[in-house]
Amino acid sequence: VPATTKFNDLINLLKDSNAKPYVLCDENSYTYCYPQFCEILGFQIHPIIIKVDESLKNIQSCESIWHSLMEDRAGKEAILINLGGGVISDIGGFAAATYKRGIKYVNVPTTLLAMIDAATGGKTGVNFAHFKNMIGLIQQPELVIIHAPFLKTLPLQHLKNGFAEMLKHALLNSHEHLSEILNVTDFLTPLDENSILKSMAIKEHIVTLDPNENGFRKTLNLGHTVGHAIEYAALEHNYEMLHGEAVALGLIAALKLSVNKLNFNESKAETIIQFIRNIYPTPLWVKHHHETIINAIWQDKKNSHQQIKMVLLKDVGNAVYDIVCFQEEIAQVLNEI
Ligand SMILES: NC(=O)c1ccc[n+]([C@@H]2O[C@H](COP(=O)([O-])OP(=O)(O)OC[C@H]3O[C@@H](n4cnc5c(N)ncnc54)[C@H](O)[C@@H]3O)[C@@H](O)[C@H]2O)c1
Repeated sequence: VPATTKFNDLINLLKDSNAKPYVLCDENSYTYCYPQFCEILGFQIHPIIIKVDESLKNIQSCESIWHSLMEDRAGKEAILINLGGGVISDIGGFAAATYKRGIKYVNVPTTLLAMIDAATGGKTGVNFAHFKNMIGLIQQPELVIIHAPFLKTLPLQHLKNGFAEMLKHALLNSHEHLSEILNVTDFLTPLDENSILKSMAIKEHIVTLDPNENGFRKTLNLGHTVGHAIEYAALEHNYEMLHGEAVALGLIAALKLSVNKLNFNESKAETIIQFIRNIYPTPLWVKHHHETIINAIWQDKKNSHQQIKMVLLKDVGNAVYDIVCFQEEIAQVLNEI
């Protein structure tokens, strides 16, 4: 599903399918984005508003969406428009894909992380029994619409959150793309639509080649083995940390391992690592919890046969997956992040 900036595509989809649309919002996207959204479309769409928080990304939130749809007698032809961050697109996508065995849905992401990552690729779902994204399915949206002005109200921390994934996409793509990203110095200037679309296209391309993640799609996990483990350690020990902040540290670890194991150019790696450190300084608590982090790495979904398997880089634009990494090798780079 290629992303577009054209709201006309949505208007045409609604016209063609003659369907009643619903817009799923959270309280912030309802306040900051819904009025603009309706103004651009030129008509109002019935909003379904839910509270969001990672802890509310659960089946109860889905139930409330299903109830709202049923109360309004929404039929099989209904279309759900997910206007919000990654929590909204994950829950809304899942609720839509299961309501009456599946209605169409559209993502209109309003956070940078959702634009760059969550809104595309078709992964939907909810957390269950304290595990993230435990229940879900892969179902592609009909459309993904990008409107960069929505980011004007997004707090800086959330811009940085999405920017880590932009950096990851550039590392997976090319030197040219990476140097554009390394030139970003000011997050307060809203990111332009072209650089967002360019970054999204990297994920789209990889997902198209391997939609069900049998192989190449795993490269999108660059930085995520250590990143997820740091995120888990933060949660365990009650430190606040966003996904992107953890992924940024995971990218440092992956770059160092790439130097050690795959001959990635060391000075190139240092330049990138310095850039990452300036934006995402490593919190002090990280060095006190290496054991928790290592234990969490053993739980990573990408491991198999009792081996830790990571995505590393031979060079910028040349990622390899399923690289077996030993615990000692990872412990060593953890000391250096
Ligand atoms: N499906 C996937 O492939 C995929 C990929 C990456 C992340 N995710 C999921 O995405 C979620 C994280 O997404 P997120 O970071 O967007 O979180 P989020 O949806 O919780 O949004 C972050 C915060 O920003 C607020 N917000 C949204 N738009 C705003 C705007 N324009 N102005 C001001 N505030 C606004 C929200 O209300 C929320 O408080 C996680 O649950 C993660 O698992 C999914």
